[in-house]
Amino acid sequence: MKKTGIFFGSSLGKTEKVARLIQEQLGKNNADIFDIKKVTPGTVLKYDNLILGTSAWGIGDMQDDWEDFIDTLVELDLSEKKIALFGLGDQKKYPESFADGLGTLYCRLPVKTNIIGAWPVKGYSYYCSMAEKEGVFVGLVIDDDSQPELTHSRVSEWVKQISGELK
Ligand SMILES: Cc1cc2nc3c(=O)[nH]c(=O)nc-3n(C[C@H](O)[C@H](O)[C@H](O)COP(=O)(O)O)c2cc1C
Repeated sequence: MKKTGIFFGSSLGKTEKVARLIQEQLGKNNADIFDIKKVTPGTVLKYDNLILGTSAWGIGDMQDDWEDFIDTLVELDLSEKKIALFGLGDQKKYPESFADGLGTLYCRLPVKTNIIGAWPVKGYSYYCSMAEKEGVFVGLVIDDDSQPELTHSRVSEWVKQISGELK
């Protein structure tokens, strides 16, 4: 497997925690991890596989650092890369905008054909989510606020699912 770069933005540390779990599941030799606060475009371009993660803030907002970094990212040619997305949210407190940050991140990526890792909506309870497209989430959704007991199993199942598709 070619090396994967995991890029996360995290305000309270939850998305970082999930990014680290994903790295563990992929194996530390297979994946490097970066806080987007400290990352340059050149670092992103070094990887054939990208895993991008954000939490949700406000209605439709990505985590703050993503709001800045996305403009840099969309300038890069990512068309030859495999990209998988994950997003955090809180379905109990924000059922009208659950995991919207993930939906916005997906929406902002100019090429969608190389995005892998869609995830079932079964097991979550919410009214609306911008991360849901055609009956599935566009990436892994983690609710470490109201379903923390499911975080580990969801991550390990998703990593198994995408591993075969990574380059
Ligand atoms: C002010 C505020 C607004 C939030 N807005 C949303 C939201 O619209 N949708 C959602 O699903 N979660 C929302 N959340 C929940 C966070 O996305 C969730 O707690 C996440 O795990 C935080 O991850 P982080 O620590 O990596 O930033 C919000 C949390 C706060 C404190």
